[in-house]
Formats: sequence, C-alpha cells, structure tokens
Amino acid sequence: MSIERTFSIVKPDAIKRQLFGQIEATIESKGLKIIAGKFLQLSQEQAEGFYAEHEGREFYAPLVEYMTSGPVFVQILEGENAITAYRELMGTTNPETAAEGTIRKLFAVSMRENSVHGSDSQESATREIEYFFQPSEICA
Ligand code: TYD
Ligand code: MG
Repeated sequence: MSIERTFSIVKPDAIKRQLFGQIEATIESKGLKIIAGKFLQLSQEQAEGFYAEHEGREFYAPLVEYMTSGPVFVQILEGENAITAYRELMGTTNPETAAEGTIRKLFAVSMRENSVHGSDSQESATREIEYFFQPSEICA
C-alpha cells in the first residue's frame, strides 16, 4: 500500500447534466482526497495534447471535439493506491461493460461521452498532473 496521486477529469457530458456533485461524492466516499481542482474550457490544442497518445486513431478527432464542447473539471486525487483505486471506481471505457456501482455504469452516456477520465499509470499521472497544474495549486 502506498499513498499515490492520480489525475481525474469530470468530462463535458457530466458537467452539462449536473452530475458533478454526485461524482465528487462518489470519489470522496471511496476515501480519495481531492487535493486540487478547477473548472476549465479546454482549447483544441489542450485537448489534442492531452490525448496525444491516441493521435491517428479513428476516435481521436471526435474525442477532441467532444472534450472541447463544454466545461470540464480537472482535479488531483490522493489516497492509497489512488491510480488503481480510481480506475476501478470509474469502470471500463465502454459503460456497457462497466461493473455495477462504477461511475461510468451509473452516469456515462456512451463510449465517447463516458463522464470521467483517470490516469492509467504512475507515468501518466505525473504527466497529466503537470499538464494542468502548477505546484502552488496543490493543497496537500
Ligand atoms: P482510453 O485511454 O483508451 O480509455 P480510458 O479513458 O478508459 O483510459 O481512451 C480515451 C478516451 O477516448 C475514452 O475515455 C473515450 C474515447 N474512446 C472512444 O471514443 N472510442 C474508443 O474506441 C476508445 C478506445 C476510446
Ligand atoms: Mg486512457
């Protein structure tokens, strides 16, 4: 067991449908601490850079369009094994296969509009946190 930090986004579909509070409550109920957060309207460049690993995939352009379609909430979560714990809490990318009780099962609309993002590894978490946050914005 180790205390880790992970990066999370509450995506445009969830903000639009006013699910932000319920998603944050779900996260806090699992013992994950929200140690930084802010609402952003992503630019095309920000969304493209964030999802650069998927450049060239057929879903990349519509994903970028969707991620810039409205405000998002970006945040840093801290807790025991936070990266894996939060991936489990989110559920699978496709909400149709997500386990009962997961955020994506509860709230996601589709594979693309799947309500939340979470880092998939320590390396991704470090990159993604640095992509959106200055050290001074983190309240640990
Ligand atoms: P990915 O990193 O594979 O999923 P996750 O968010 O679970 O880490 O993909 C990033 C996002 O791209 C995903 O949340 C939704 C979108 N996406 C699609 O729209 N279609 C797809 O076939 C895939 C794989 C992802
Ligand atoms: Mg991913």
